[in-house]
Amino acid sequence: MSLTPAPRLRSRHLLSIADLDPSEVDLILDTAVAMKEIGTRTIKKVPALRGRTVVNLFFEASTRTRLSFELAEKRLSADTMGITAAGSSVTKGETLADTARTIEAMSPDLIVIRHAASGAPHLLSTICRAGIVNAGDGTHEHPTQALLDALTIRERKGRLAGLKVAIIGDLQHSRVLRSNVLLLTKMGAEVRACGPATLIPLGLTALGVHVTTSIDEAVTGADVVMMLRVQHERMHGMFLPSLREYFSLFGLTPARLTRAAGDVIVMHPGPMNRGVEIDSAVADGPWSVILDQVANGVAVRMAVLYLLAGEDEA
Ligand code: CP
Repeated sequence: MSLTPAPRLRSRHLLSIADLDPSEVDLILDTAVAMKEIGTRTIKKVPALRGRTVVNLFFEASTRTRLSFELAEKRLSADTMGITAAGSSVTKGETLADTARTIEAMSPDLIVIRHAASGAPHLLSTICRAGIVNAGDGTHEHPTQALLDALTIRERKGRLAGLKVAIIGDLQHSRVLRSNVLLLTKMGAEVRACGPATLIPLGLTALGVHVTTSIDEAVTGADVVMMLRVQHERMHGMFLPSLREYFSLFGLTPARLTRAAGDVIVMHPGPMNRGVEIDSAVADGPWSVILDQVANGVAVRMAVLYLLAGEDEA
């Protein structure tokens, strides 16, 4: 692969899908396709970010996002450092703003942050000169997840515009939902959202989403079914009568999938609650592209880092 000098996104941060126009979404996805080729080589490394420093701040648990950002940074030859909440001075009471000022004093080029507080990446962008990449903030957004989901859909369906996408599960607590709704509607897909009435956030309809509490209605004719995790850790109160009842009303089973388009694909951002939002027969079945999503996460994060901080030929 030969990378010409990096085209740029309009912003030097990736805080929200709302900040991208459709041509920028296409640019990231097209760049990710080029980045995938690097992952097929014997030596999976290019010098696109050589001399750049990336700091990974993961103040919330993560397997996929953290590992794929780290792998993306290594494949682009960036110098990387990382801390988690447990291993940082946050445990001694340091505020996020003071942590940001401390990191800024070391002149990184990019900071990747996951934080339980919605808006934490935005706060960093007001303090730091470094580009900020949102790796998931509270219930607000997870932009690189939506981008890797879009790449996975585009690979399988050849397009995003005109597709019927059903997003089902714990809508209330899902940053993945919000980022996907913003991206998919921006790119011309038809989005349906389905969940229990207690887990439907206000304002979805205003974003152009058809909202229903019937999983059968949501799945009927769908080209893509995206299941969302029941986020027990963000629930402070009785949102669900029982997990058994949740599965019987909202769990995705092979029987329910028969209502979807014949070539439907099933997605899940992970981690999954098998037997709660998704039957193992679906998660491991022929419809599932869940591990493709994980693989595409590396390429999309390479693309984002490169477009935000790359300058020279790779
Ligand atoms: N999809 C996702 O964000 O997974 P992790 O929490 O494992 O990073």
